[in-house]
Amino acid sequence: MKRRIGILTSGGDCPGLNAAIRGVARASYEMFDCEIVGIHDGYRGLIEGDTQEMERSQFSGILTLGGTILGTSRTPFRNMRKIEDDHVDKVEAMKKTYKNLKLDCLVTLGGNGTHKTANLLSEEGLNVIGLPKTIDNDLYGTDFTFGFHTAMDIATDVIDRIHTTAASHGRVMVIEIMGNKAGWLTLYSGVAGGADVILIPEIPYRIEEVAKVVERRARNNKGFTIIAVAEGAMNKEEAKMKKKEREANRAATHYSASADVAQQLRDMVGVEARAVVPGHIQRGGSPSAYDRVLSTQFGVHAAELIRDEIFGVTVALKGNQITHNKLKDIAGVPKLVPLDDQMVTIAKDMGISFGEKD
Ligand code: F6P
Repeated sequence: MKRRIGILTSGGDCPGLNAAIRGVARASYEMFDCEIVGIHDGYRGLIEGDTQEMERSQFSGILTLGGTILGTSRTPFRNMRKIEDDHVDKVEAMKKTYKNLKLDCLVTLGGNGTHKTANLLSEEGLNVIGLPKTIDNDLYGTDFTFGFHTAMDIATDVIDRIHTTAASHGRVMVIEIMGNKAGWLTLYSGVAGGADVILIPEIPYRIEEVAKVVERRARNNKGFTIIAVAEGAMNKEEAKMKKKEREANRAATHYSASADVAQQLRDMVGVEARAVVPGHIQRGGSPSAYDRVLSTQFGVHAAELIRDEIFGVTVALKGNQITHNKLKDIAGVPKLVPLDDQMVTIAKDMGISFGEKD
């Protein structure tokens, strides 16, 4: 029996997407008779029927390639059921494309939003298998998503490079790491880069406490301080605000978490402070060896699930085992850094400040 597999990548890109696509394709071609249809730019392509019959050769030479050969887009889940100006019923359109293409299953590579729509399509009767990707590592049910370790390596390299210039000039350097809701990337790269202060969305900070670290280091003849701040970090006052109010407040003041922290430290302590925003560099380029392996493992497991006709699931890493979760159990459940996370405790035991009260 020939199986027709649709595959799409949705949401923000990350290193490892092509390695995972390759894993699904190669293992499928090896294990059973199949045809693969590439869907362009995530759910946009599925809605609009923008697809391509793939050749086996197209999955060759892409293991180390950054980005995604299929293209991606953000098609927010909250709008999936909304009929907008174009009068398109997006869910019906996606089901129609699936039917027209005579697909036996759909493989969706993405983060939280992607998994919510994957679950919706599964509930609508499509055979769906998810693969967990995001540099944010904020997907419930898997220890790690692919893309996270590469981004951690990049962010750590940024911190390392900032370290030497910070020490030379005796400056406070505030490095803004990606992650709006979840602080995993800031936490791990902050520990790896030897940051003195780590500020994450899950632990609202007091700038007075951060200033105390800078002053204490200066008293101990350490003229520089490295602060790793997540894009979505907030102080205790901001944490009490609604999201819209917080964003307006940020826009009216210093635009970004790092600029905000740097300016407040200049005002409060009178130090030379600089903000550095590596931004999308953290999502670019070739996947690390770890992510190549994880993406391949995830891709191959997805092919095994197709072979065994297990649908409505997403692939996951638990301990050292590659396994899967039901989409309905994980869709829409964000994985934030718990306050008692072991890595938080380890960082605190190392003397790293999270900007809380001493
Ligand atoms: O989801 C990954 C991520 O890089 C987040 O860390 C970041 O907040 C967001 O995407 C940025 O989105 P965009 O690429 O749309 O600017």
